[in-house]
Amino acid sequence: MIPHSRPAIETADIRAVTEVLHSRRIAQGGVVEQFEHGMAAYFGLPGGVAVTSGTAALEVALRALDIGSGDEVLLPSYVCAAPLLAIQRVGAIPRLVDIDLSSFNIDPSAARQALTPKAKAIIVPHLFGLSADLTELEALGVPIIEDCAQTLGATEQGRRAGSIGILTVCSFYATKLLCAGEGGMVLSRDESLLERVRRLREYDETPSLYPGSTNLKMTDLHAAIGLAQLERLDSFLERRRWLAEEYRAALSGVGLVVPNVPTGHTHTYYRFVVRLPDLASTADGLHDIIGRFEVRGIQCRKPVFRSLHRYLELDGFPFAEEAERTALSIPLFPALTDEDTAQILQALRSEWS
Ligand SMILES: Cc1ncc(COP(=O)(O)O)c(C=O)c1O
Repeated sequence: MIPHSRPAIETADIRAVTEVLHSRRIAQGGVVEQFEHGMAAYFGLPGGVAVTSGTAALEVALRALDIGSGDEVLLPSYVCAAPLLAIQRVGAIPRLVDIDLSSFNIDPSAARQALTPKAKAIIVPHLFGLSADLTELEALGVPIIEDCAQTLGATEQGRRAGSIGILTVCSFYATKLLCAGEGGMVLSRDESLLERVRRLREYDETPSLYPGSTNLKMTDLHAAIGLAQLERLDSFLERRRWLAEEYRAALSGVGLVVPNVPTGHTHTYYRFVVRLPDLASTADGLHDIIGRFEVRGIQCRKPVFRSLHRYLELDGFPFAEEAERTALSIPLFPALTDEDTAQILQALRSEWS
């Protein structure tokens, strides 16, 4: 079975971890610091603070901005549960916003309608490898937390996603564009915010206890993988783009919606998500298609398990719901072999030509 995702673990990653093991310094140390510098340089930012996961990064980002009880935080409904959980953990109020179906990202005009004077931040996940419309979102005048868990290297109007917001968060979970097993990071151009994140991440040997401090430290073992992957990130993204063009060619003219790349954007294809508009009126039409691909030895997935408004039992998110019913993620990752790719292309042609 070709899995939906598989990390690109190569000799360089294994060597990097082995070196850390040989050093006997396996907790947070110099390699974490190097990884922080490397990621900050990637975004063109002065600094980053590594933590244990993307979810933890979102939570400490909110705490660093002093967001808590009574404050509202905007976020899209069509995304994994991590941003919602982070908002709930700091005691703030989530204000869900519908998406733009053509990009799967938060719809800036819906965000404007959801704004109230209590809004203290907006979490902007860049979904599936495509930057959200940051130019329009900046015009809302609310601090932006960019969630780059699914997008590294994408640009919008020449600006790199992740380099614009007051804070940026990353995830290095096993399936991500750059993986470390687990891990996350908060980056910013504001050193005082980064210092707050550091104090939230660890509490040892500090002159006073900082409210909310806990242990969210990354280990050098994880950072070693991240750092080794960072060196190959550009080649990973190149391979992803090449695969995406192959899939596009196989699907051209077959009546389904392939990933849109809006003018002024570049896509990095964390996911290759197609839409099947015919399924808009079915409750679970994707289930059968996923089953047919499985018979062909290919694991496709719904790219978002459940829209967040459904967890909160809210109505009024028609585009998130349509995405949930019609969007299908086809495996695309740099570790796909040429045989895997040929098998996927063959399956796409048989299913839809
Ligand atoms: C958009 C987004 N934000 C945050 C996260 C959370 O990252 P992690 O799994 O590292 O906690 C994810 C993970 O799937 C994600 O897709």
